[in-house]
Amino acid sequence: MFSDDVRCLVVVGAQWGDEGKGKVVDVLAEQATIVARYQGGANAGHTVRVGEDEFILHLIPSGILYPEARCLLGNGVVIDPWTLAKEMAGLRERGIDLDGRIGISRRAHLVLPYHRTLDAAQERSRGSAKIGTTGRGIGPTYRDKIARTGLRVGDLKDLKRTRTIVSDGANRANVVLRGLKDEARVECDAVMSSIEEVRSMMLDLCADTGDEIRAELGVGGRVLLEGAQGAMLDVDHGTYPFVTSSTTTAGGAAVGVGIGPTAIDEVLGVVKAYITRVGAGPLPTELPEKEAERLRQLGGEFGATTGRPRRPGWFDGPVARYASGVNGLTALAITKLDVLDTFDAVKIATGYELDGAPVGAFPDSVEDLGAVVPVYETCSGWNADTTGCRTMGELPTAARQYLGRLEEASGTPIRIVGVGAARGATIRVSDAGIAAA
Ligand code: IMP
Ligand code: MG
Repeated sequence: MFSDDVRCLVVVGAQWGDEGKGKVVDVLAEQATIVARYQGGANAGHTVRVGEDEFILHLIPSGILYPEARCLLGNGVVIDPWTLAKEMAGLRERGIDLDGRIGISRRAHLVLPYHRTLDAAQERSRGSAKIGTTGRGIGPTYRDKIARTGLRVGDLKDLKRTRTIVSDGANRANVVLRGLKDEARVECDAVMSSIEEVRSMMLDLCADTGDEIRAELGVGGRVLLEGAQGAMLDVDHGTYPFVTSSTTTAGGAAVGVGIGPTAIDEVLGVVKAYITRVGAGPLPTELPEKEAERLRQLGGEFGATTGRPRRPGWFDGPVARYASGVNGLTALAITKLDVLDTFDAVKIATGYELDGAPVGAFPDSVEDLGAVVPVYETCSGWNADTTGCRTMGELPTAARQYLGRLEEASGTPIRIVGVGAARGATIRVSDAGIAAA
């Protein structure tokens, strides 16, 4: 994917998250000099398998598993310092050298304990209308950021300033909690002493991440911008209000690390060979529970952050096309093709109907998206183990045909196909494309 012409590459999820971005980023990170996160926080859970080892990363970019890569958390990320500390300790315990390899933006906002408290209380108060958040305080932190009341990493060097922001934040949180008739309360002093535990670690990690990325691109380095969640969870383009609170789409990558959009050379969208969603909200191709359970077991579809069972469905062409448009995808990576190895038939939604009429533009309301009826095309299964395939030519014909249909349904050329969790279980598609194999 990286080449002389492609030095700044964005990898985004093009479904509802959990597309297997962690693995794709890990594979591409081998060639990157910098890997940076640009949005989201510890709501993400990126699973990477290296040999027998499995790593689940929430905040630190998946590039950390290559000793040469410098890993940055850009200004658009919301950082929970205690989760970061735990994640760093966990990596060190497993022999990963982190010295000088992690940098965090002074402009990034901190997720504080009261953001988590508010996240939980708000979900409780929503009852059956709950969003099904990961409970990591993401929404309340971004709310503080946009309301201009947040605490940024750079504020930590000034304790007095930190205390003022935290004290105001704690007061506001208590007003909200009382309004929700929730019993939880927040104490400024308790938050301040927690901050003491992580303050010097955070200040030591501070870097001019935007400058660093621009400088790296200026000297011909290779920068991988790692998205979290997926297009359908984007706060603008996703299934609002059942979304996360950040710009998960590719435009957010520029803003979230401090480069201009013209610096981005390619946008790789990651989709599973089927689809899943975790949390509430519409999912047009969702499978009935019996079939869903089969796919869930075969694909290990349980949340890496929360352990919740994911909701599986057939590949959704309209979602892929829409995600391709809003992200400006230049290529697609298909993951977990092997999960479909034992199916006699596999389906693809090629369009939607609403009240018997074809749906044109992708629905902007969750009511409409919840009411559409997918139009399916059935492809024959391949009933063969694809996990050992390393070239397109080695894949069964039916699997290749299925990929060809995914490409057509999404209107985006496939460049990578994943056939297993291991690093090596990856097929690179040549420029000639799927049909050439
Ligand atoms: P939040 O990001 O915790 O506020 O959760 C909002 C919605 O986004 C919920 O439906 C979550 O399940 C979903 N979500 C957040 N992060 C991820 C992720 O990394 N993968 C999949 N879904 C996610
Ligand atoms: Mg995940």
